Amino acid sequence: MEATPYQNMQIQWFPGHMTKAQREIRESMKLVDAVCELLDARIPASSRNPDIDELTGDKPRLLILNRCDLADPAVTARWRAHFRAAGLRVLETDAKSGRGVKELPLALRDILKEKRAALAEKGQASRPMRVVILGIPNVGKSTLINRLAGRRAAVAGDKPGVTRGRQWIRIDRELELLDTPGILWPRFSSQAVGEALALTGAIKTEVFDTEALAANFLLRLRATRPELIEQRYKFAPDPEESGYALLERAARKRGMLIPGGEADTERMARTLLREYHAGKLGALSLETPESAAIFG
Ligand code: G4P
Repeated sequence: MEATPYQNMQIQWFPGHMTKAQREIRESMKLVDAVCELLDARIPASSRNPDIDELTGDKPRLLILNRCDLADPAVTARWRAHFRAAGLRVLETDAKSGRGVKELPLALRDILKEKRAALAEKGQASRPMRVVILGIPNVGKSTLINRLAGRRAAVAGDKPGVTRGRQWIRIDRELELLDTPGILWPRFSSQAVGEALALTGAIKTEVFDTEALAANFLLRLRATRPELIEQRYKFAPDPEESGYALLERAARKRGMLIPGGEADTERMARTLLREYHAGKLGALSLETPESAAIFG
């Protein structure tokens, strides 16, 4: 094995976008009673933005582990226990197929029980509770909102001039959802976090060296789930090989060659990443609470 198997990769970042997104979230906090925090079930640590505590204050919060169809169910169960132990209410969803989504209003009603009771005491119980969905880019916020909206019409926005353009989607008699989600920015606290975000599509893989990302992914797969390489790419990974050599072997196995007979590692890298996105390597979580317990 090489001395430094994981090649270092640079990530570009734009502080201006981050400031704007934070300002929008702070504004929406004035309008809502509770917050849904959407995470990618394969990378619950890396897809979480630690600023959320400060941004949302003491608003009741529902944690949603989305893309649970692509995550290892046993690992997701450990994450659920981990977050519950930290006092959070947790829901698992697959927004694409809709699995788990119908439990969302129930879970929200539950976390809003105390607030409703307090309002009832003041004689204001009839107003619907309002919620917003927050999460990093591409985690499934719009897909989830569309699922929840279904054929329901959006209800009127707030006072003109105050929150122009915002609309509320009536979920049921007691709940309304803000139609625009809040965008949280992921924290690139380490190289591993950057890779996790790129592998799951939270950041465009074009900002990475695709071959380096795929080669590193193969090294991590070999270390943790070597059988997945065998099943999908039909070769037993040699413990001495570099990530790049593994990529080359996968390319040859797939018959991906460039004129002259060299392995087309660039094409193989793109294929590998696309196949992981599509779940073709199987349900594969990239983080466990034990190896990435940055919270709680
Ligand atoms: P965002 O608003 O948070 O930025 O994310 P968005 O809803 O646009 O979802 C990003 C992609 O993730 C979409 O795929 C969407 O279909 C997919 N997605 C969302 N939730 C889930 C889920 O629970 N499971 C799976 N497997 N996928 C989910 P896309 O790249 O736009 O196209 P496609 O993959 O649907 O063809």
